Amino acid sequence: MTPPFDLSLEQMRTHRSAKWSRVPEDVLPAWTAEMDVRTAPAISAALHTAIERCDFGYAGEPTPVIDAFAGYARDVWGWETQGTPGRTRLFADVGQGVKETIRAMTSPGDRVILNPPVYLSFYPWLRDLRVEPLEVPMLDIAGGGRLDLDGMRGALASGARVVLLCSPHNPLGYVYSREELAALAELAAEHDAVVISDEIHAPLVHPGSPRPFVPFLTVSDTARQVGIALHAPSKAWNVAGLKLALGVTAVEGRWPALQSETDWAPSILGQYAAVAAYTDCREWLSGTVTEIEARTQALPALLDEHLPEVRFRPGHASYLAWLDCRELGLGDDPAQAFLERGRVLLSPGPAFGATGAGFARLNIGTSEELVTEAVRRMASALA
Ligand SMILES: Cc1ncc(COP(=O)(O)O)c(C=O)c1O
Repeated sequence: MTPPFDLSLEQMRTHRSAKWSRVPEDVLPAWTAEMDVRTAPAISAALHTAIERCDFGYAGEPTPVIDAFAGYARDVWGWETQGTPGRTRLFADVGQGVKETIRAMTSPGDRVILNPPVYLSFYPWLRDLRVEPLEVPMLDIAGGGRLDLDGMRGALASGARVVLLCSPHNPLGYVYSREELAALAELAAEHDAVVISDEIHAPLVHPGSPRPFVPFLTVSDTARQVGIALHAPSKAWNVAGLKLALGVTAVEGRWPALQSETDWAPSILGQYAAVAAYTDCREWLSGTVTEIEARTQALPALLDEHLPEVRFRPGHASYLAWLDCRELGLGDDPAQAFLERGRVLLSPGPAFGATGAGFARLNIGTSEELVTEAVRRMASALA
């Protein structure tokens, strides 16, 4: 097994995280977006420092995290996030950042534009806020995806004032082009709308991607006016349980409508981890993404061997594979058959919104061996 994907199955089975602890012992988990990786040494060291200091109080002064993220964004994406006080703030997680931002900008019954198939928790988040999803499905899903700009224009013209963008796109692994994002920003500005860009998977764009990740707030002056970006170390450095995310705007005073209680929500361990992730873990990340890209590129051949009816187009970001299982004849939710008969847990396609029926999402952020085992188990569900 290749580091950092070299934890043994026995080690993984001891994990108390959601991915491993919320499934029966005989089920292989390939669902929620956690990776099975050995933690980056600098993050482990930072957490040990917190332990040695007995430093487990409430989240502290946010500047070290904000500065560390600013340095990373500048070096990696050429994005200047700083300059105006209050432009970056911390949340416990991206979910909280998205929800509090939408809450501040909508009233119950308003509509929020989503681009399905899209990250399944967006739907319950909107339900909690009593706002309605307005779906503008991605185009050319079989070809990797593309934003339906005409559809977005129509949705904005119909009165929706918030776009919740998933960039890069989960589950397609699609990396938006600068032109697409700039066009979206113009449409949003014409309709007095806001674009909340969930960029949590951005550090996981593959080295072989035909396009680099482009932060929404860098595409144009208009984007800087209409955009709010959310980031976190949680996916790329696999520390979701440490609870720390960042919200970034280019407009002074964008956040005051948010309750000040959100300042108390992040975890101090998340602060330790985030500073380490953004400053000292780039080599670890680069090795990890190279491995993820190899898994992604190898998946079509693996599927051909065991499940030739499943269609998959490798994306260029993150470790989630969107599988078209419609030819298997397993109905709208093939993940159910994979679980019941194959004892492998994928995420259910229909939960990703319109166009999700007949699909399932496979988490390949694990060792090569376990990806192979997951596909074998899926195939055994058909026997
Ligand atoms: C696109 C996207 N946004 C947000 C989240 C959740 O992030 P957090 O745990 O920071 O709320 C995920 C988790 O998989 C995700 O894929």
